[in-house]
Amino acid sequence: MLKLTNVYKSYGGVKALQGVDLEVKGGEIHALLGENGAGKSTLMKVISGAIAYDSGNISFINKEVKTNNPHISKELGISIIYQEFSLIPDLTVAENIFFGNNTYKWIKWEQLYKEARELIQSLGFDIDVRKITSELSIAQQQIVEIAKALSKSIKLLILDEPSAVLGSEEIKKLFTLLKKLKEKGIGIIYISHHLEELIELTDQVTILKDGKTIGTVRTADVNKDILISMMVGRELNQLYPVKNPTFKFDNPIEIKGFNSKHFNSPLNFKVYKGEILGIGGLVGSSRTEILQSLFGNFPIDEGTIEVDNTSFKPTNISSMLTRGWGMVQEDRKALGGVLERSIKENISLANLKKVSNRYGFINPNKEKLVLDELITRLKIKMGNAEDNLSSLSGGNQQKVILAKWLNRELRVLLIDEPTRGVDVGARYEIYQILQNLAYSGVYIIMVSSDMEELLGISDRIMIMKSGTISGILERKNFSEESLLRMAIGAN
Ligand SMILES: Nc1ncnc2c1ncn2[C@@H]1O[C@H](COP(=O)(O)OP(=O)(O)OP(=O)(O)O)[C@@H](O)[C@H]1O
Ligand SMILES: [Mg+2]
Repeated sequence: MLKLTNVYKSYGGVKALQGVDLEVKGGEIHALLGENGAGKSTLMKVISGAIAYDSGNISFINKEVKTNNPHISKELGISIIYQEFSLIPDLTVAENIFFGNNTYKWIKWEQLYKEARELIQSLGFDIDVRKITSELSIAQQQIVEIAKALSKSIKLLILDEPSAVLGSEEIKKLFTLLKKLKEKGIGIIYISHHLEELIELTDQVTILKDGKTIGTVRTADVNKDILISMMVGRELNQLYPVKNPTFKFDNPIEIKGFNSKHFNSPLNFKVYKGEILGIGGLVGSSRTEILQSLFGNFPIDEGTIEVDNTSFKPTNISSMLTRGWGMVQEDRKALGGVLERSIKENISLANLKKVSNRYGFINPNKEKLVLDELITRLKIKMGNAEDNLSSLSGGNQQKVILAKWLNRELRVLLIDEPTRGVDVGARYEIYQILQNLAYSGVYIIMVSSDMEELLGISDRIMIMKSGTISGILERKNFSEESLLRMAIGAN
């Protein structure tokens, strides 16, 4: 169906693709795997016609895909779900789904809503199609993206890390859906950093490294370790850091009676010094809201934080920053203008500098050293520190945001989905860094939808269910089953 030979693409001096070969058949789910910055998203944009390629050949059903003209690939029947969302925030769900579809010359609104609703239901999901898109959760927005891609008849569907923002239930539904499309003969290209997903879902895997094709293998012939060594070029024996069984957790921060419209009952819990407290639960169970409330971004109605015999209420972000609290947000885009600032500026954002000056715990020279080390350790792939953050690949943006916070001398680190979109090799480094931070005395509270990650690095896991704490698991009692049971509420 799709054949690429020796495709090249540069962005200015950055050689994103340097000779890519790829063949995808109809009725096949084809994984594309590679480290952050390997060129996956660029390749997909080239195939969909969103950007032009410099040289090489792309043919789709024996027709050459020549120009950078998304309309042509649309006519050919190629649909793409981008890594960074392309929905228009102010439109309703239904409008977004059919936006750009010429069938609606005169809009019959009731018809539009009806068709949008039916489409979403036929995909196995349930979303109010009259809602303004920006009011949806990120997971729901992703489902709207998928619905949009499937609102016309297509032959090839490209999904660039669709699962990164979905919860486990939604991923299951997505997989069922993709398998159905495959049976209909549709070709699917699926990008993900989650190897378990690739192994479960796909038929073939093509590995990209530094803009080149390393090879294509049948999924049935490989396992996780083989894929990792093909991708990273080395073996990773132990993804998660080793816990010190005799470490003494003490001096807890106590969260008392936290309540607001985001919760269904007051929250009471502790996080100990040296501990990584994981927060699990389904999408929409108010996990992120806990972090946002602790960080003063979502003011609470009642409740206090107690630490070192003092108690206070988090009322705004800047007061939390001065207390040495930091937060890595879930949504890169929510950081707004930051994407259009340089990598360097992002790393030393003004408000943070102020904090560190006033309290004097950061020495700029040392900071630079540590930062350079982080850039090397996390293998942040970038041209120049003066370039905009938006010029980096998705995973590398995430690494920069992490590096910024990991670089601070924080007391408390709140972290939402730490490794979303981050490749396996860098994930390994991030886990090591988080563990070292915890043992050095930083309190860490981490929300993650990745069950393996939660079980892998948390010391305890607090599970949320519809705005209420449904339980706390000790490490010795960790299991996927108990976690799921508490998240869903079955006993
Ligand atoms: N608009 C752009 N301007 C300049 N450089 C870019 C631009 N988009 C991508 N690049 C660079 O091209 C290279 C490949 O990026 P790409 O987004 O294709 O990687 P990726 O494999 O999708 O990575 P990830 O897993 O992090 O999403 C990277 O070095 C990136 O910095
Ligand atoms: Mg990408």
